[in-house]
Amino acid sequence: MNIAPGIPTPDPLSHTPVLAAEVVEALAPAPGRLIVDGTLGGAGHTRLLLEAGARVIGIDQDPYALDRARSEHLPGLTALEGNYRDMQELLAPLGVTRVDGVLLDIGVSSFQLDDAERGFSYHTEAPLDMRMSQAGESAADVVNTSPEEELAAIIYEYGEERHSRRIARAIVQAREGAPIETTVRLAEIVKRAYPGFSKGIHPARRTFQALRIHVNDELGALRDGLQAAEALLAPGGRLAVISFHSLEDRIVKRFLRGSSTLTPLTKRPVEASEEEQARNPRARSAKLRAAEKRAPEVAA
Ligand SMILES: C[S@@+](CC[C@H](N)C(=O)[O-])C[C@H]1O[C@@H](n2cnc3c(N)ncnc32)[C@H](O)[C@@H]1O
Repeated sequence: MNIAPGIPTPDPLSHTPVLAAEVVEALAPAPGRLIVDGTLGGAGHTRLLLEAGARVIGIDQDPYALDRARSEHLPGLTALEGNYRDMQELLAPLGVTRVDGVLLDIGVSSFQLDDAERGFSYHTEAPLDMRMSQAGESAADVVNTSPEEELAAIIYEYGEERHSRRIARAIVQAREGAPIETTVRLAEIVKRAYPGFSKGIHPARRTFQALRIHVNDELGALRDGLQAAEALLAPGGRLAVISFHSLEDRIVKRFLRGSSTLTPLTKRPVEASEEEQARNPRARSAKLRAAEKRAPEVAA
């Protein structure tokens, strides 16, 4: 993909959207086109799609993100609370069964990470929560009630953490003394259990990632969301997915490879330029894959 010149830059006070120009090019927003932003967040991408004349249905499972986006009264945006994995059911009451584009910019937003109270960060003391939707099991529920084997499997699978067993054992031993209720206590438990840690990336990073993915069923939502997007797209409609770690990117790559209706627009995932990576550290691990829905084959 080439980066289109003249893409408008977003309001500096809003969330900085990752791979903004590349997303706009992939989704080809224009007047008359309807695009679903399944991960509305700070509405950074949505704002650019609206500026290009498209209408946007924005979905977010985080009620705080939704309140913030709604308070901006962006013309052309309909904001819905829910999980993007249910996008067909969410759009049905609006009478929408076909759309021209779907964007998924998965994971947590910088607003969520920066809000210490949400419990995503191992740097700041907060209740160990990590739920984007405020519903279901919190990270504290998981670390305090899961059997050791299950904890080790979560940390290994979703954190790709090779010391998962050792960490799970340390968590179980620590919770026998008192339940693990806060981010910093968990981070300290992991740090103490981690062999050979001196400096560099915090040893709790992978464990926190694993718990966040598990608590929000992020990979399950991605698998379901890709299928729902494929079903919703009109012929010629575009799908764009930004992922932030290899587990997610693998799911997207395999899905596009196995799809009989989507033609990939990106042979390899598109990554942020050096300039964007320097400006926005979050862009360093971002990978964009895009595809277009084919017209159904007409029987001869
Ligand atoms: C990385 S941010 C999106 C940022 C947005 N593209 C922007 O430019 O401002 C991800 C957002 O998606 C939401 N989210 C993550 N997984 C979701 C899911 N399965 N369903 C609905 N929203 C989800 C999060 O709550 C968060 O607000």
